[in-house]
Amino acid sequence: MGQDERLLLGSTFGAAATAYAEHRPDYAQAAVRWALERAPGPRLLDLGAGTGKLTAMLVALGADVIAVEPDPAMLTELRRALPTVRALPGSAEAVPLPDASVDAVLAGNAMHWFDMNVAGPEIARVLEPDGILAGLWNVFDNRVDWVAGLERISGSAAIGPRDTFSSWRAETAEAHLPNSGSIAQFGSPEQAEFPHGQRRTADSFVATLATKAGILVMPEQEQEATLGRIRAFLASRPETARGEFTLPMLTGVLRVGRL
Ligand SMILES: C[S@@+](CC[C@H](N)C(=O)[O-])C[C@H]1O[C@@H](n2cnc3c(N)ncnc32)[C@H](O)[C@@H]1O
Repeated sequence: MGQDERLLLGSTFGAAATAYAEHRPDYAQAAVRWALERAPGPRLLDLGAGTGKLTAMLVALGADVIAVEPDPAMLTELRRALPTVRALPGSAEAVPLPDASVDAVLAGNAMHWFDMNVAGPEIARVLEPDGILAGLWNVFDNRVDWVAGLERISGSAAIGPRDTFSSWRAETAEAHLPNSGSIAQFGSPEQAEFPHGQRRTADSFVATLATKAGILVMPEQEQEATLGRIRAFLASRPETARGEFTLPMLTGVLRVGRL
């Protein structure tokens, strides 16, 4: 993805902030624990915190959490849901925190929006010398037959390579690296995934997919056609045609240490 496309797509979420807060999933608890396993202390930064899906889990773990989010509408949702959390406007490229002030930086479904040429040094600046950076991504388990079928008909704006079990590792393996020749700030990456699920109906699942950046930027007709195709597929499958089902997901984690 080019820089212009990243900026455009990464700034679309605010338009759907309320739907995002209602429909997007949280993360597997085991994934969050694994992400934090090597953090040297409890001071955490949730970067690109959105409406606070990951922030809330970090708070529940008893950590000392600061949330940073560039989109005003997402930040408003976060502050409404988590009024006691310190939530600041800012971005990965300009983090409003002092040097060496956090033990870990986490990014839930957000690291791929960062310009790591700028964000890498900025994240390293706010981390303690032995601090860690972790990216978490919720992915669909496309080893399940109906999920693989949905992936085939949905188009990559709804379910792309970063969104599935079979390809998220390859898609994110270098998410912590600058794409120019500048110096890497982090060591060798480790990746792991952890089972997760979300109770959905066909309607609420379509509403979840409608909060994806690639769908939000589509012209209305294309958006309706894409979501209509997904709705028809879900209606055609016994697993999803009626009532509630558990959406088969995993939370994938990439973790790296500051060099
Ligand atoms: C898919 S949402 C994830 C939100 C939240 N972390 C979660 O787990 O639900 C991606 C978030 O990244 C934010 N974002 C986009 N570009 C960013 C950047 N350069 N720095 C920090 N956050 C960014 C968006 O505003 C959006 O809130």
